[in-house]
Amino acid sequence: MQEASAIERLVHEIYGEAVKSDLTQPVRDPFRAVELLEKRYKLVVDKRIVAVTFAAFMASRPVLFEGPPGTGKTEVGEALLELWSGKRPFILPCSENYDEYKVIGDFHPIMALRKGFNEESFIPRPLLAAIILDTGVLVDEIRRSNEDFQNLLLDISDKRRIIVPELRRMFKARGYGFQIIFTSNPEDIAQNELSDAFLRRVVRVDFNYPPRDVEAKIIRLRAGSRPRIPTNITNMILDTINALRKTGIQHKPGTAEAVLWARMAQELARLRGSDVVSINDVVETSMPVLAKRVEDEDEVREVVSKHFGVEP
Ligand SMILES: Nc1ncnc2c1ncn2[C@@H]1O[C@H](COP(=O)(O)OP(=O)(O)O)[C@@H](O)[C@H]1O
Ligand SMILES: [Mg+2]
Repeated sequence: MQEASAIERLVHEIYGEAVKSDLTQPVRDPFRAVELLEKRYKLVVDKRIVAVTFAAFMASRPVLFEGPPGTGKTEVGEALLELWSGKRPFILPCSENYDEYKVIGDFHPIMALRKGFNEESFIPRPLLAAIILDTGVLVDEIRRSNEDFQNLLLDISDKRRIIVPELRRMFKARGYGFQIIFTSNPEDIAQNELSDAFLRRVVRVDFNYPPRDVEAKIIRLRAGSRPRIPTNITNMILDTINALRKTGIQHKPGTAEAVLWARMAQELARLRGSDVVSINDVVETSMPVLAKRVEDEDEVREVVSKHFGVEP
């Protein structure tokens, strides 16, 4: 094994800034983490989710966050990885043609011609950078990747090392900071199934729409206090969102949509020069926020009309 080679130097040069966090040290106490999630990231997260995730990290197991869209999987995953390692994590948004060259590294064709296939011409990519910098990786929407790619990630996470045969090198994890969180939405019909082998090795954390009081708290936290949203209006927003989740529409609203709707209504009020959100502000922003597919339009319009007494 070589010491601080060209690859290590290059990784620090390319990615060093990107992983810098203003956390002074890792936060691995679940109680403290829950507090910081709310204060620092404006995320309301059940302590059990934090505790199970951290316990999995201690046991060297990757974690799978599964649930419908807009329930905070990506943002919570990113925040937990940062708290855990004290450094910003890497995010890998999956697609069908993701492979080891795109996440571990590849050779620069012109440099390779000039310098040969060695560390001088190798471009390190995020997964290799994460293991070298000892930080986390969020593998977003894992079902969009192919099975080979999933197996590659599991192997790396199990053995906590990456082998680059072309360089005759093995890069080992240096501490506990290198951890993986996968996210997935099992209801997305266009996506791949996760294999039994994959599920056997991960710890699965179920995400769902939060209880009503928690969702109200999230809106308060994210929307801020100005322009003010009267309580009855927040209730109408939550009732409408909950009713839509029970319909057969394609694009079901998550907490993300609840927050966006409240904020859009606030912005409309602001544009009107008002300091209080009105029913009209909420109704006017309803269709643009909630009806994302043409085939959902009629049903969304009906549910909004029913809850607000006016046609959007
Ligand atoms: N627990 C939560 N606390 C605060 N905001 C949340 C929470 N869950 C969802 N949100 C809202 O949803 C948005 C993020 O959703 P995202 O992480 O993209 O969800 P997913 O990855 O599950 O689709 C946030 O910007 C926020 O507005
Ligand atoms: Mg997501």
